[in-house]
Amino acid sequence: MAEGAVKAVSSKQFGETLRRDSWWAETVPVVLLLGGFGIYATLRAFEGKFYEWGPYLSPFYSPLIDEHHRWWKLSPALLILGGPLSFRATCYYYRKAYYRAFFLDPPACAVSEGNRKYKGETAFPFILQNLHRYFLYLAIIFLAFLWKDAIQAFFFDGKFGMGVGTLVLCINIILLSTYTLSCHSLRHLAGGKLDCFSCATFGKPRYKGWQFLSKLNEHHMLFAWSSLISVGLADLYVRLVSSGAIHDVRLF
Ligand code: FES
Repeated sequence: MAEGAVKAVSSKQFGETLRRDSWWAETVPVVLLLGGFGIYATLRAFEGKFYEWGPYLSPFYSPLIDEHHRWWKLSPALLILGGPLSFRATCYYYRKAYYRAFFLDPPACAVSEGNRKYKGETAFPFILQNLHRYFLYLAIIFLAFLWKDAIQAFFFDGKFGMGVGTLVLCINIILLSTYTLSCHSLRHLAGGKLDCFSCATFGKPRYKGWQFLSKLNEHHMLFAWSSLISVGLADLYVRLVSSGAIHDVRLF
């Protein structure tokens, strides 16, 4: 009986499923949103202009390195792109999303991917996904730069003020922070690997921290999408203002 069941599963064709719901409906927005963001971000990273205006700096270009092209002739965004990209690309949630949406491996839960040889993340190149926790450290450094940019966006020619761009950059860094703080690897670092908090060094603060991060972690998917959209919109806003397509509105 068990052998028969195994044979039945292994002989399934691609896309075969007992599900009667519209399982593909979950995949379509992921393809559109992730694909659209990927195209937009690539174009912007290579554009190399319209990335700052007044106190505003696009998050795609922060930290800004060799702005005046003394030793780097291409767009400055290309120098830093690898940091945030590697963090997002290896994110546990995004992995699930793009394995399903782009590799159809599997297309959805309980939908067959056919008779592919499954190696999971135990072989090159996907074994590199295990570097996620190190990319987290890198992402925290980027976060510090983006907080600095958000604070700097309150100062117009040295005078304190606020424009729509200030709000855009502040909302963006808050969403990026929630995304980073809700990371599975960070939660694990705080206490996920412990069996006994009271036996560990700094057990009590770690327990409190782990509780807080666990609450955020429950909404990791939401933060992943909202921060992806906000970072794209923040860049778009700076680009539009910088290119003169729109004017920034000063609130005070
Ligand atoms: S698991 Fe998604 S950012 Fe770490």
